[in-house]
Amino acid sequence: MPTVIPTGGALGAEIKNLDLSQLLSGDAIRTVQQALLDHCVVFFRNQTLTEENQIRFTNYFGQTVEHVRKQPDRQHKEIFIVSNIEENGAPIGALGNRELTFHSDLSYLKRPGTISVLYAIEVPRTGGETQWCNCYKAYEALDNDLKTRLKGLRAVHRHYNEDQNPPEHIDHPVVRTHPETGRQSLYVGRHLTKYIVGLPPSESEALLNQLSEHADRPEFVWTHHWQVGDLVMWDNRPTMHRREPFPPTERRLMKRTQVFNADDIPFE
Ligand code: SIN
Repeated sequence: MPTVIPTGGALGAEIKNLDLSQLLSGDAIRTVQQALLDHCVVFFRNQTLTEENQIRFTNYFGQTVEHVRKQPDRQHKEIFIVSNIEENGAPIGALGNRELTFHSDLSYLKRPGTISVLYAIEVPRTGGETQWCNCYKAYEALDNDLKTRLKGLRAVHRHYNEDQNPPEHIDHPVVRTHPETGRQSLYVGRHLTKYIVGLPPSESEALLNQLSEHADRPEFVWTHHWQVGDLVMWDNRPTMHRREPFPPTERRLMKRTQVFNADDIPFE
């Protein structure tokens, strides 16, 4: 049976004794589901997976769908390549080697991604770590006056690549409630959240910066140091993540899958 070992940090747990290339039993799937609800991020080391294996594993947790971003033609469109590697002068994937600041995946859509899965094929010798923020803890630690001020506020999320966005501007609650745990969490980050609806621009900027600095505190953040064969799965609803940059001379190749639940529109 799988064993769940919490990281002891702000969130995250390692799950041992599970070979994700094999069919998983109902009990094993329920253990992973519960660990994800409890720890927000779970990871498995030393996996050897085909793309079919990764898609089958992701499908245990909802419907795996193609990423909205255009990518070169691939056999399995559900696999999104995150990489800085170029072949024949063209990038084989997205996101390069730069730093990515805190965000929750696909928050610029009306129905954002719920669960994301990232599988490491090649990792750089230095840099490229991914950090997750526990947005439940970040919200719970706000003082009561600020919690009252955030009540009912909504923020617009938009991708910097305009062609990834839907035509309309999408807004979500600044504080959202997880549909399964019932817990509230902050749902804004400086990478994709543009402004708070109804506030003057300077006030919106100041509040977003204040919330972002708060969420950035070490007690809410946990860092994953990648090894080849790691598969990390996270719940985007109560977390944000960011990535450290890495040298352009290093290779990093990750395969990502994404779950959407058609009925998961963030609610307060
Ligand atoms: C992402 O934001 O989905 C990519 C994270 C990473 O490259 O570590």
